[in-house]
Amino acid sequence: MSDLSTRWLGIPLANPLIVGASRLTADMGVIAKIQEAGAGAIVTASLFEEQIELQNDLLEDFAMDYDSREQPELSVHAGTSYAGPEEHLEWVKRAKRAVSIPLFASLNARTHDVWLDWSERLAETGVDGLELNLYATPCDPFVPGDRIEDEQVALVKEICSRVSPLPVAVKMSPFSANPLNLASRLAKAGARGVVFFNRFFQPDLDPGTGESVFTFDLSTGMENRLPLRFTALASGRIGADICASTGISSGFDVAKMILAGASAVQVVSVLYRKKLSALGTIRKELHQWMDMAGYSTLADAMGRKDALHSTDPYAWKRAQYVRILMGARTSVGQYPLL
Ligand SMILES: Cc1cc2nc3c(=O)[nH]c(=O)nc-3n(C[C@H](O)[C@H](O)[C@H](O)COP(=O)(O)O)c2cc1C
Repeated sequence: MSDLSTRWLGIPLANPLIVGASRLTADMGVIAKIQEAGAGAIVTASLFEEQIELQNDLLEDFAMDYDSREQPELSVHAGTSYAGPEEHLEWVKRAKRAVSIPLFASLNARTHDVWLDWSERLAETGVDGLELNLYATPCDPFVPGDRIEDEQVALVKEICSRVSPLPVAVKMSPFSANPLNLASRLAKAGARGVVFFNRFFQPDLDPGTGESVFTFDLSTGMENRLPLRFTALASGRIGADICASTGISSGFDVAKMILAGASAVQVVSVLYRKKLSALGTIRKELHQWMDMAGYSTLADAMGRKDALHSTDPYAWKRAQYVRILMGARTSVGQYPLL
């Protein structure tokens, strides 16, 4: 049988399927089942700075003799979406003891000191590595993008040196002028891997009520084209491992990410749609593809079709876009206008 083993951030994984940070990975029972279902690794649900702020607010209220129990929405309970940061740390420690596959802790903070402090505290839980989710929505038109990126690189450098030798991955946003440049700068700053990409839940607006609507949308297969392309463009050129994420739901999706140069992939939506048994199906399909394509190890296939190795000069580049839009037999050409 073909060998699905790989390495992510220098850590051996039995297979490239990492269950990404989500509510799935916030539940001890589910985590054990994810391991049973044959995942290669797990990223815990993120610790958000808002959880830390909430805890601080509650402590302040307590100190001021304010009865926060009158505000049930602010109650801090382990295992709920409002688990406090201390409970989260305890939970991560227990989760690490409960599984034998690699477990990575995810942090999504906003302010410098919280990033540093909580990276260190998560690192001390015994996890195999950290995933930093640099999610932030730029809301100020007068802040230049390079300043934001400089700050991110400096932050990652500081975190990496504080938690060293624990490996660090950065879950990146696709919204930067040149994600390849940012990825290589993050690698120089000490990140061992980058996740292409974070998936943002965008708010919607109901034109009838004028109210914002926050919907929970799972990804679709089309969405894997963006990580696929940037994985292929970055492969072998940024000095870091690449984990492809978003819209991956079959062994064939994993196969194309591996060919493009990914060392591993993250999955979440497919598990919500098809349950944890999807992990077994994906592995089976990956084996089928490797047998069909004649690869006995995943490493043999890795990066074979990336931008450095593809024999198609148009693959992954601007010319491909022109070819799609102008080709009579591709996409829009199939839809007669009249
Ligand atoms: C319900 C749900 C919750 C998520 N929570 C987090 C989170 O806490 N932190 C994070 O970095 N990503 C979070 N994500 C994003 C996933 O980790 C992953 O990057 C993304 O879902 C793309 O994979 P998919 O297409 O397989 O869903 C969440 C995704 C879903 C669907």
